[in-house]
Amino acid sequence: MPAFRTVRGMRDFLPQEAERMRHVEQVSRKLAQLYGYEEVITPVVELYNLLAAKSGEEIRERMYTFKDLGGRKVALRPEFTASVARLVATKMRNEPKPVKLFCVGSLYRYDEPQYGRFREFWQANYEFIGSSKPEADVEALILTKDLMDKLGLRDYWFKIGHVGILRGILSQEGVTEEQQNRIMQLLDKKLWEEALTVIRGSGASQNCLATLKKVFETKGKDFSQTLKRAEESVQDYEKAVAAVENLREILELTAESGVKLEVTIEAGFARGLEYYTGIIFETYVPEIEIALSGGGRYDKLIELFGGEPTPALGVAQGVDRIVLAMDKQRIPSKVARERRVVVIPVDEESRAKAIGLSSMLRGAGLSVEVEVMGRKVSKALSDADRKAVAHAVIVGPEELKEGKVVLRDMKKREQRVVKIKNLCEEILGSSK
Ligand code: HAM
Repeated sequence: MPAFRTVRGMRDFLPQEAERMRHVEQVSRKLAQLYGYEEVITPVVELYNLLAAKSGEEIRERMYTFKDLGGRKVALRPEFTASVARLVATKMRNEPKPVKLFCVGSLYRYDEPQYGRFREFWQANYEFIGSSKPEADVEALILTKDLMDKLGLRDYWFKIGHVGILRGILSQEGVTEEQQNRIMQLLDKKLWEEALTVIRGSGASQNCLATLKKVFETKGKDFSQTLKRAEESVQDYEKAVAAVENLREILELTAESGVKLEVTIEAGFARGLEYYTGIIFETYVPEIEIALSGGGRYDKLIELFGGEPTPALGVAQGVDRIVLAMDKQRIPSKVARERRVVVIPVDEESRAKAIGLSSMLRGAGLSVEVEVMGRKVSKALSDADRKAVAHAVIVGPEELKEGKVVLRDMKKREQRVVKIKNLCEEILGSSK
């Protein structure tokens, strides 16, 4: 039999890696609760047409698509937003707004495997449905900042733009939505020249081309100044001016709230997903070139899926890339080790008592492993050392006769005989 390997682009997560992924997931879930998001679980397999509707050419071409045995064209989800919009358009149609939904899980894109780009990856995803107000946009930014802070990430920054700037210009020029989507895809990949060629071919005016060139150059960390420049550049295009205004309102409200965000505004910023209608943003850390998270406003998607016209926005935090960023910044995930205990029977007669005691200790909230390899106490203790366990309980016939066991503090390398009835308190007391 040949040695089997994982399928290209798919990964196993060994215990330490899995622990780091789950740590990010848990912090994300806790944050969802703090912001009033409720968790939903949607299927990994969805109808292809749902996922393909507005995901954009790039993702559409990279979906894992197949016919199920019932002949349906289905795909593995490449993102959560389409599934959540489906829920809100159907089963959650009558929920009072806003509806705030959190989901976390694995997603699939047939990307070329490389650093930070996997075919199976995880997102912690937040969708905020029902509000068209800038305070909702602000919340998505602040929530993302909070997550980065809670995880201990440093020097992260937001890249922020508004799809209404480019789309506003292009639609006023009569560029069809299909062509616009193509142009946005190219811009998302930073293929400026190719995008300009398509724009020229779409019959856009010279003024449009000159405006777009200025828009592409309009970037800066000072949002007021950058948006002022952007507004001047797009003044002939009413919808684009409105988009700049909307962005200004969001960023001013953020600044007035006292929350400090490190931002770079890019007037020509585009994201591959086609459903965006308003603000779009991504987060970065200096150590990694690719985005850790991405999000934006999508006010037309729920309607497209048959729901009421419903404004919405959301953000997906890329769990895998956040873990990579934490590795680069050498941030340990905080996992409590102090409450781990091993219970070691010194002979066969003490085994049953050791199992019984371990149940009692677990009942008190301690994480307990029983020695099951039949090793001598000294061997079992060195194994406990290796695993950085805090306490060992050594169960032997002599002490048991008096209702006692030996409790060893693994760090201090000290041990004493304690009464079984006091064992939990002794362990909990000394691990405070
Ligand atoms: P996205 O920008 O396609 O947006 O993905 C968000 C994040 O998922 C990325 O910033 C990245 O961290 C992670 N990600 C994407 N593809 C990969 C990959 N191949 N390998 C590793 N990580 C990856 C969305 O998915 C939107 N649904 C976000 C959103 C929610 N917009 C509104 N609501």
